[in-house]
Amino acid sequence: MTTMADVARSAGVSVATVSHVLNGTRPVLPHTRQAVLDAMDALGYTPNTLARSLVTSRTRSIGLAVSAISNPYFTEILQGVEAAAVEEGYSLLIADPHDDPLHERKVVQLLHERRVDGMIVAPSANPRDLLAYLGRHKVPAVLLDRLVDFPADGPARFDQVCAESAAPVSRLVTHLAGLGHRRIALIAGRPGLSTTAERISGYGDGLASAGLDHDEDLVVHGHSESAGAEPATARLLALASPPTALVTANNAMTIGALRALRDHGLSVPGDMALCCFDDFAWADLFSPRLTAIAQPGKEIGARAVRMLLDRLAAPERAARTVRLPCAFMHRTSCGCPEQPLTPRTPLEGTLS
Ligand code: HPA
Repeated sequence: MTTMADVARSAGVSVATVSHVLNGTRPVLPHTRQAVLDAMDALGYTPNTLARSLVTSRTRSIGLAVSAISNPYFTEILQGVEAAAVEEGYSLLIADPHDDPLHERKVVQLLHERRVDGMIVAPSANPRDLLAYLGRHKVPAVLLDRLVDFPADGPARFDQVCAESAAPVSRLVTHLAGLGHRRIALIAGRPGLSTTAERISGYGDGLASAGLDHDEDLVVHGHSESAGAEPATARLLALASPPTALVTANNAMTIGALRALRDHGLSVPGDMALCCFDDFAWADLFSPRLTAIAQPGKEIGARAVRMLLDRLAAPERAARTVRLPCAFMHRTSCGCPEQPLTPRTPLEGTLS
């Protein structure tokens, strides 16, 4: 088996220099560095990352804990995290906390025990134990998608990254109001998630700016799942004055709503206009094509990696919250005629 000493001999440098090239522990002149890399290549040398970790106390690995990895939105986030991590020379350990606080706390502990350098976590609706664990063990971490509201004078604060939620939903509501709808309903997500609260608040903003009344009966909870959105849609249809337009607050609930509408023999957009949060690969293939808000999943994932590496480099820096803009995919399920093109209208994002 080829050793570091073989590489050093072949490149004409010391073993220490080979170690500095591998671990980035000291700057090495570019031509020396290249000679070491060439020698490694020629000799087929594979660094032993476990041995390296003992020297550097770093494993060059990141733990990622996101629920519902089969959901296309989270799959996109995962792709973004993976691509950015590999580009930076980090490998990934992935866990699915299933949106269950107990399971979440357990998988985060398991990742921590594997000595990942830091973690990226999409917190559940009740992340108290998770945050206590991360804080107690001083685990460098970035939270994504679901924002946690830390008190300004409280203890652990974490870097956070998510997509804008309120403004895009407001945009969908004003769009539907502009088409003449007066009874616009919202199928909201799981209570306790910031994305759910923000989308409900965006719905209210949209109604207010369109000058429409806020009827509580028109906001139902689909619990972020297709199976929850079906009965929620049925409840809306059973109202004395049912809605003429629906906004669904995520991709899974769009599927549930479509299923319920089909089961009631209702067509979109003739009987019910539909606008959804989350674009997905086949949203453009339905007839009608789905008018949707596209979240920047890959960018959220990539940004989380960069924020984590910044945190590792500067542990004392103040925590940041980044909100990335979504895009309005204007198609035909809202009731608009077929557009010659599907313009991606970017909406604003913010940094705090
Ligand atoms: N958060 C934000 N967007 C989503 C989610 C979620 O949990 N699920 C599907 N789209």
